Amino acid sequence: MDLGLKGKVALVTAASRGLGRAIAEKLAEEGAHVAMCSRDENRIRLAAAEIAGKTGADVAAFEADVSKPEDINRVVRETADRWGRIDILLCNAGGPPGGTLESFDDAAWQKAFETNLLSVVRLIRAALPHMPRGGRILAIASSSVKQPIPGLILSNTMRAGVAGLMKTLAEELGPRGILVNTVCPGRIDTDRVRELDQAKAGMEGVPVEEVRRSFEAAIPLGRYGRPEEFARVVAFLASEANTYVTGSTLLIDGGMVKSL
Ligand SMILES: NC(=O)c1ccc[n+]([C@@H]2O[C@H](COP(=O)([O-])OP(=O)(O)OC[C@H]3O[C@@H](n4cnc5c(N)ncnc54)[C@H](OP(=O)(O)O)[C@@H]3O)[C@@H](O)[C@H]2O)c1
Repeated sequence: MDLGLKGKVALVTAASRGLGRAIAEKLAEEGAHVAMCSRDENRIRLAAAEIAGKTGADVAAFEADVSKPEDINRVVRETADRWGRIDILLCNAGGPPGGTLESFDDAAWQKAFETNLLSVVRLIRAALPHMPRGGRILAIASSSVKQPIPGLILSNTMRAGVAGLMKTLAEELGPRGILVNTVCPGRIDTDRVRELDQAKAGMEGVPVEEVRRSFEAAIPLGRYGRPEEFARVVAFLASEANTYVTGSTLLIDGGMVKSL
């Protein structure tokens, strides 16, 4: 299938590692021009250089923290200045820390809100004036949108907000020919998931392999996903091959979530 991504302009945030990076690489492989950002200048430059080297695509790296509105505005402006438009916007950020209601004060809630929900609002608001008809907007949320994960109260709450925002925008932006979808990873093997597993192992006093085995036992496909498996689904949703999926909140979880 021709995804029709050749020559498209994509902005992928939080892309030096993990899911964001895998998506940036997949879009580049399919011929898109890719702008990618993260907080660590060296890491994002290295990731961009590796992707450009592997794919031959035109890739730009920006140091930017998506919890800061001035960084968002700069990255969007520079991407649009460089290529004249933004066809695809992929909103991503690092996940908030684990914990329960009593472990977080207002400052922690505010930080999670700015990083994981308000960043999506700000990114979309900044990118829309540069997005032509046929644009695609995606946000990474979590399987917790369908089934909250114990011990991740900040994430569970902000992701639900993202899903509500994106569903509303599918309605608002449909008449402009812009497709809006939320993608929800279950357990995809990235640094973030390995850190969460390590923390759980520490709390429970068991080896990390045991924690991973117990998660895998609940996944019908019996294993964690790979970032490139996640990225392939995103690439389809972001592409011209997707002409009729909008307003969806799609699980990419190997069947982990048990709800209908
Ligand atoms: N992996 C999964 O299965 C899974 C499941 C559910 C939800 N999620 C969520 O999906 C998102 C991506 O997950 P991941 O597993 O790819 O995480 P990851 O491996 O920890 O990678 C996070 C990426 O985000 C960047 N980043 C973090 N905070 C940022 C910020 N404020 N501004 C800009 N860039 C930032 C990091 O780069 P720098 O350090 O260079 O900034 C890094 O490139 C997270 O929100 C995570 O909670 C993932």
